[in-house]
Amino acid sequence: MWDCVYSRSFCVLSLLVLSCVCNVTGQVRYSLPEETSKGFVIGNIAEDLGIDIKRLRSGRARIVAGDNSAYVELNTDKGTLAVSERIDRELLCKQISPCSFTLEMILEKPIELYEVTIEIVDINDHSPSFSKEEISIEIRENALQGARFGLDSAHDPDVGVYAITSYSLKPTDNFVLKYETHSDGSTNIEMMLQEPLDREKKEHFALVLTASDGGNPPKTGSMKINIIVLDVNDNAPVFTKKRYKASVAENATAGTFIIKVSASDADKGSNGEVMYMLRDMQEGLFKISEISGDIILASGILDYETAKKYELKVEAKDHGGHKDTCVVIIEVIDVNDNTPVISLTSFTNPLSENAPIGTTIAVINVKDIDSGVNGQVSCTMDKNTPFVIKSSLRNYYTLLTDQTLDREIHHEFNITIIATDEGSPPLSTTKTINLRISDVNDNSPVFEQTTYTAAVFENNSPGVSLFTVRAIDVDCCQNSRVSYLLENTQVNGAPASSLVSINAESGVIYAVRSFDYEQLRRFDIKVRAQDGGSPPLSGNATVQIIIQDQNDNAPQVLYPVQTSGSVVAEIVPRSADIGYLVTKVVAVDVDSGQNAWLSYKLQKAADRALFEVGAQNGEIRTVRQVTDKDAVKQKLTVIVEDNGQPSRSAVVHVNVAVADSFPEVLSEFTDFTHSKDYSDNLTFYLVVALAAVSFLFISCLTVIISIQVYRWRKSRNFYQSSLPVIPYYPPHYADTGGAGTLQRVYNYEVCMTTDSRNSDLKCVRPGSQSIISLDSGGTLTLPLPPREKPMFDDTQVRSLSNSFTYFCT
Ligand SMILES: *[C@@H]1O[C@H](CO)[C@@H](O)[C@H](O)[C@H]1NC(C)=O
Ligand SMILES: *[C@@H]1O[C@H](CO)[C@@H](O)[C@H](O)[C@H]1NC(C)=O
Ligand SMILES: *[C@@H]1O[C@H](CO)[C@@H](O)[C@H](O)[C@H]1NC(C)=O
Repeated sequence: MWDCVYSRSFCVLSLLVLSCVCNVTGQVRYSLPEETSKGFVIGNIAEDLGIDIKRLRSGRARIVAGDNSAYVELNTDKGTLAVSERIDRELLCKQISPCSFTLEMILEKPIELYEVTIEIVDINDHSPSFSKEEISIEIRENALQGARFGLDSAHDPDVGVYAITSYSLKPTDNFVLKYETHSDGSTNIEMMLQEPLDREKKEHFALVLTASDGGNPPKTGSMKINIIVLDVNDNAPVFTKKRYKASVAENATAGTFIIKVSASDADKGSNGEVMYMLRDMQEGLFKISEISGDIILASGILDYETAKKYELKVEAKDHGGHKDTCVVIIEVIDVNDNTPVISLTSFTNPLSENAPIGTTIAVINVKDIDSGVNGQVSCTMDKNTPFVIKSSLRNYYTLLTDQTLDREIHHEFNITIIATDEGSPPLSTTKTINLRISDVNDNSPVFEQTTYTAAVFENNSPGVSLFTVRAIDVDCCQNSRVSYLLENTQVNGAPASSLVSINAESGVIYAVRSFDYEQLRRFDIKVRAQDGGSPPLSGNATVQIIIQDQNDNAPQVLYPVQTSGSVVAEIVPRSADIGYLVTKVVAVDVDSGQNAWLSYKLQKAADRALFEVGAQNGEIRTVRQVTDKDAVKQKLTVIVEDNGQPSRSAVVHVNVAVADSFPEVLSEFTDFTHSKDYSDNLTFYLVVALAAVSFLFISCLTVIISIQVYRWRKSRNFYQSSLPVIPYYPPHYADTGGAGTLQRVYNYEVCMTTDSRNSDLKCVRPGSQSIISLDSGGTLTLPLPPREKPMFDDTQVRSLSNSFTYFCT
């Protein structure tokens, strides 16, 4: 219907055109929409040209010329022109508008040429289309506002109103579309940046560009535009925290991980790469990994006691030079790595052994530079000592005595003090202090025995050592230095010091003089040992000295009395029987024991001896009858011998008269009598001697008394002096400075009686003191000339009684 109306209007127009063509019989023009289906009747050409149908047939009408004649066909029967093939205007004419083609229809008989123009009218059969469905555009995020980006235009083969009329872009948040159509029909489409981009906010944009044509309804075509925002390093790294806190033990080794810091950079790729570094390097203590941000300990020399806290400044930087900093606070954790230190603040050493219980010996200070419980120290010591340790102030301890001390048991102590802290594990220190105990004179010297017995043979040489006493003092040093003294006791009225002396240092007891068993058989002395303490202490002991006998006395004949002047004879009557007791020799020996055991014998017996002597009793008896041949005057020599080793003997002469009457005896013995002169002289000498003795005796007594008084006063002075102790020597000993006893020079005075009958006085006398030797037998020794020795060598004073010797000392 529509087509029909349409074609009619064209027909009218065609007729007008045809009238102007000269060599063409007729012209007709048709307008035809494209894309009509096959067989679509374009128009009734016969009618439009005014040609009869029959004529068409007879004229064998046909379309002869025209490139596009294939599109149409002529129906001669109906006189119509129809579409024989689909006509696409865009194919036929491209963009040329209007689009038409011309056909020629020829008739024969007569030949007639008709021109048929067929115009193809466009229909909106194409949508706008883009050459690409999707494009990508990369834009740096820092692109300026107003930047333009060219886009491809769309294409629509339709023409005229059906061509592209408008474009649109969606969404329009950041971009707006700018386009202009030039006179040549080309279109310039641009996209303009309106709002700045930020990759960090939005990295991708998906836009759609739509092209619309002018159809009704319009047809559209669209293209996706992917916009990729390219990163620009426009962001600095940012630490996740401004302050980090971490802790590390002070004994951590190098390489210990401490903390990881991290900064983020919103940029992408290499722009977002962050490098970490420490700003103020703390003596190289810490290291940071440039890439990971791990902070580790560079060297394991942390010391809580030196630094408790470190503050590091860490910088994060990207490749564009953007930076951020943060602070890392690293706290050092204390580890119990310091042992306590013990120091003595005061120390009393040595300590006196009489220190009372509770005496402070030492003040001890303990220190531990660790903190907290690691630095809390307690002090202990071993229990088995007489000491205790007490805490006085914080970190101060005092060491006190807990028991009484005795240097004689323990002279030193090693006190071990242990200081332990409360760390885990605890650390401890020990300190040993060596305490010496000083001596106090609390022990007296003690003799090894309370009573000693020493024996010595008489006639000992003066100065011989008799015995050694020893006392021990368990104290120390000066307090144990023992000196020996002789107590001032009396022996038979004489001071003990006149008999013995003692070496103050060695305790050796020496005889001062030679002892005589016959005068003194034993005596006791008291010795004292005194130490060097202040005040000194002493101990004592008794020494009994026993003098042993020696055979130093020869037997003495008591009867018959031997005189030099008179002759005594025993008378034996001639008629005496065998065994007649003539006389008895009586002898004694002042020695004792064997030394005093006497035996008698005749010195030389004649062939036919008339007498014999009883070996045990000394009785002289006849052994035969007296004969006439026997002389009147018989002289017997009897030897009295003791049993000592060696033995000593005495000889006694016994005159025997064998007679019956006294006159006979007398006549025989006249030669025995002494002259009267001799006898008178003797009497005179005796008187003189007696007077002299009496005088000397009195003088001597006076001297003795004076000396005794002087000595008493001197010894009093000596014993009164208390300090210091001076080794004691008998007053007559002079110490010549020699330390040893043997070097001492003893000045002694000795008189020895070697024989009781022959009183040999041997006096050695270096000084000028007087010795008076008084012999009861009447021999007088006068004061001696000085420095003369020996004085009485071989001077024999014959006496019947023992000699008495006085020593003026
Ligand atoms: C640090 O000290 C603690 C406690 O004393 C101990 O357990 C740890 O093993 C020590 N570490 C090192 C590395 O010595
Ligand atoms: C104390 O220690 C010292 C030195 O180590 C040692 O010579 C001494 O014998 C010790 N004393 C005691 C009583 O242990
Ligand atoms: C001698 O020692 C005893 C104890 O051993 C003492 O009783 C006495 O008094 C002492 N004698 C002297 C004279 O010191």
